[in-house]
Amino acid sequence: MTAARFDLILKGGTLVTPAGTRTGDVGLRDGRIAEIGALNAGAAAAVLDVVGLHVLPGVIDTQVHFREPGLEHKEDLACGTAAAALGGVVAVFEMPNTTPSTLNAADLRDKLQRAEGRAWTDHAFFMGAAAENAAHLGELEQEPGCCGVKVFMGASTGSLLVDDDETLLQVLRNGRRRMAVHAEDEARLRDRVALVRGGADVGRHPEWRDEEAARLATERVLNLARRAGRRIHVLHITTAEEMPLLAAHKDIATVEVTPQHLTLAAPECYERLGTLAQMNPPIRGVQHRDALWRAIDQGIVDVIGSDHAPHTREEKARPYPTSPSGMPGVQTLLPLMLDHVNAGRLTLERLVDLLCAGPQRIYGIAGKGRIAVGYDADFTVVDLAARREITAKWLASKCGWSPFEGTRVTGWPKATILRGRIVMREDELQGPPSGRPVRFGDTLGPDA
Ligand code: DOR
Repeated sequence: MTAARFDLILKGGTLVTPAGTRTGDVGLRDGRIAEIGALNAGAAAAVLDVVGLHVLPGVIDTQVHFREPGLEHKEDLACGTAAAALGGVVAVFEMPNTTPSTLNAADLRDKLQRAEGRAWTDHAFFMGAAAENAAHLGELEQEPGCCGVKVFMGASTGSLLVDDDETLLQVLRNGRRRMAVHAEDEARLRDRVALVRGGADVGRHPEWRDEEAARLATERVLNLARRAGRRIHVLHITTAEEMPLLAAHKDIATVEVTPQHLTLAAPECYERLGTLAQMNPPIRGVQHRDALWRAIDQGIVDVIGSDHAPHTREEKARPYPTSPSGMPGVQTLLPLMLDHVNAGRLTLERLVDLLCAGPQRIYGIAGKGRIAVGYDADFTVVDLAARREITAKWLASKCGWSPFEGTRVTGWPKATILRGRIVMREDELQGPPSGRPVRFGDTLGPDA
């Protein structure tokens, strides 16, 4: 008996490939995509029937906070990546505002070690920028398993902050990879905090952290990045005013928006969800939400990331503004966005651009983000017609809640395939966890 040509064939799905969206089969071998076309089922050790389903490249979530080490009561790498896989996500980039903050090679290696054998998805970690490590970021960003440097220009959860131009320039000048930025102007936030200090309705959150705080910081970091000749990725953009600025700097700046800013709107979300809707930068009014959708249509937006930022219900129940900012989202990212596809707000191909090809292009991921021979055999299989409700029972995040509980969506992930292994099927994880560090073209090293 001869060995099968393929370990697995995905049979009869609608494939979203760079060559177009078309019906066909994909043959997988040794964790990679070996062939795309009409394949004989007899040539495979196993066949997954995906007739009637869409086969997307594996979804990559480039902004999650998984809280390990130090804040594991909110989330950890096992639960966070389980939530990701259940939501159709194959790889996550995790943020540095843990305890301790990720500021040196030992912190980053510690996260990689913690993920080994426990992560359900592939993963990479951001190095946080601070005055203390600014001079070393050029070397630190080269660490295996590092997706790049993250700067907080405005304080949010944790102690990471670089708010003065001098240190920001130093950070921008030390390193070559694309740098991720949280753009809210700290000085303006401090000036305006009196609006809510001592207690206020959470509906005033977007008034404290207003449009101008976002616009000022985005404008500043664009100018500084231009001076330093450094490429940046500006995270979770929330205002109409920032989009033309970003469009004027597309040669050096890429743009992220989140599903929650595309889905929720003030004041309704604060009235209905209270502090569960509190995040930084805030959910704003409908005119801003409309502007984010226009920017998706105009190609200004490059990526959708979830900004999964879990806090416990007890923490969220504290009176505003002592309640922490952030909401979970890694598991609901794809269902919400598929629902938007079904509502006609964007095409499935544009969604794949934002969730798969965009992350690869921005961060230089090796071998992920498209259905192409030689690439990792990562797939997110979805049923575009499935009508489902987001329920607490389905959620795997340790925090145990979602602002989208009770939301009905059309479109649902049916299977998550990671380097050739089915890790989720029909809402069930299939172990053991087999996530590995994501590899990047510019830091592969000689024998990779
Ligand atoms: O709302 C937020 N929560 N925004 C951030 O930038 C950080 C995040 C968190 O880590 O909780």
